[in-house]
Amino acid sequence: MENATILRLQDIVKTFPGVKALGGINFNLKSGEVHAICGENGAGKSTLMKVVCGVYRPDSGSIEVNGKKESFSNPMEAYRKGVSIIFQETSLFEEMTVLENLFLGHEITKKAGPFTVIDYRAMTIRAEEIFRRLSTQIDLHVQIKALGMAQKQMVEIAKALTFDANIIIFDEPTASLTQREVTALFAIIRSLKAEGFGIVYISHRMEEIFEICDRVTVIRDGQYISTKFTSDTDKDELVADMVGRKMGSYYPKTETEIGDTLFRAEHYYDSGFVTDISFYARRGEILGFAGLAGAGRTELMESICGLAPRTAGRLFMAGNEIEVQSYKDAMARGIVYVSEDRGKYGLIADMSIENNIALPQLDKLVNKFDILNTEREKELAGRYMTDVGIKAPDGEFLVTNLSGGNQQKVAVSRALALKPELLILDEPTRGVDVNAKAEIHKIISGLTQQGLTIIMISSELPELIGMCDRIYVMKDGALAGCFDRGEATQEKILSVALETKSAAG
Ligand SMILES: Nc1ncnc2c1ncn2[C@@H]1O[C@H](COP(=O)(O)OP(=O)(O)OP(=O)(O)O)[C@@H](O)[C@H]1O
Ligand SMILES: [Mg+2]
Repeated sequence: MENATILRLQDIVKTFPGVKALGGINFNLKSGEVHAICGENGAGKSTLMKVVCGVYRPDSGSIEVNGKKESFSNPMEAYRKGVSIIFQETSLFEEMTVLENLFLGHEITKKAGPFTVIDYRAMTIRAEEIFRRLSTQIDLHVQIKALGMAQKQMVEIAKALTFDANIIIFDEPTASLTQREVTALFAIIRSLKAEGFGIVYISHRMEEIFEICDRVTVIRDGQYISTKFTSDTDKDELVADMVGRKMGSYYPKTETEIGDTLFRAEHYYDSGFVTDISFYARRGEILGFAGLAGAGRTELMESICGLAPRTAGRLFMAGNEIEVQSYKDAMARGIVYVSEDRGKYGLIADMSIENNIALPQLDKLVNKFDILNTEREKELAGRYMTDVGIKAPDGEFLVTNLSGGNQQKVAVSRALALKPELLILDEPTRGVDVNAKAEIHKIISGLTQQGLTIIMISSELPELIGMCDRIYVMKDGALAGCFDRGEATQEKILSVALETKSAAG
């Protein structure tokens, strides 16, 4: 049976003030197919999907859903007509519970005498069933703000599944998931596919595209480039379509002479989960932290940086014991942290790129009358905008209007601008395209030559293996192993991360 086209986009044009985000895009999705959309940060992927589900109205072009011309005025309407979307930036309400978020705007109701009331029991049963399918356990009654990024992402996915849609759009669903959750998600996608769903899959992880997608459409700078069967193409060709040229190395690590120990943690405990961690980082070294979601990597680093309490243990910088009570203390010691959650300790979405980069060091940018030297602010921001390649009309552009990957570049730039001695990056290339990723890697690597030490948490093992001099593996809040560059492989790291009984390495 020839599968029907269930989503057809023709000649979609969308402009924002000063930005032509989409310049005439064609796209079609069949039932029973997983169709990837690829492109660099800012290419227009999210915008295209927001046009489909009624967040934006296109300037021109047509949208056909299940054989009918549609023009949704909001996502709720799209959901009702069969299109469900998981947005790239989480759209959950932090103060509400998981269950409330799942059914917000489409609560299950029942009759109670003359009244219609919310049927919490029915919603709970439905939610439990969905999480079971996702092989995830999440307490339905906790507030969203108590969850980590990976869990939030699973809630987003579960939410999309609460709707009765036959088209599901995933906008970078795995950006904050690790191997195990990705495997569970892929199992779901395969079963949805078998049931005849059509799935749009946006991701910067090339391996995933070849693993789960049937076709791939590439857009570049808002222009349609190509549509291919994944079985007929390969990573290099795909990247060349995205970038417009052949790419060199994905992990351009420069060999750096590694110096003496800069940072040391001894028998460190945070306020609960992280137990008895001892490790060190040397000058010029890129140190990786691998582990499954929930292994405690973020908790450990947040605590070290004074963003969460510690209960025991000692920290040393260049041989001297340091006291870190707050993030300010950490910064004063030359330790800077870039969170995996751009919103949490990171960017202020409604401020400009310039303001965001300058924010942590406003004191250095004011004159003796406390007046901000905007020229210096511009200069500072401008330098990083070019170096890191932030795609925006100018430095005054608001962060909220940047594409996801470009927001990440602002977060990294802001940390670099502080000129730290120890830079701790939590998922630094989350949502960043292959080209920009290589750029960020190049910058990181280049900085180590000037003596900067990097600690990098990443869920992408190829990234850790490609960039790090040593990789620690965490499991259940403790260190479970350590590998030198050269001996680390995905299999070895995973076997330690998954081991039931942890063996010290
Ligand atoms: N509300 C907005 N106002 C102004 N410009 C916007 C707005 N939303 C998106 N843009 C711009 O439109 C372009 C496309 O952005 P979009 O978010 O679609 O990119 P993307 O392909 O999803 O990138 P990423 O991989 O980084 O998520 C970018 O140049 C972005 O800055
Ligand atoms: Mg996007």
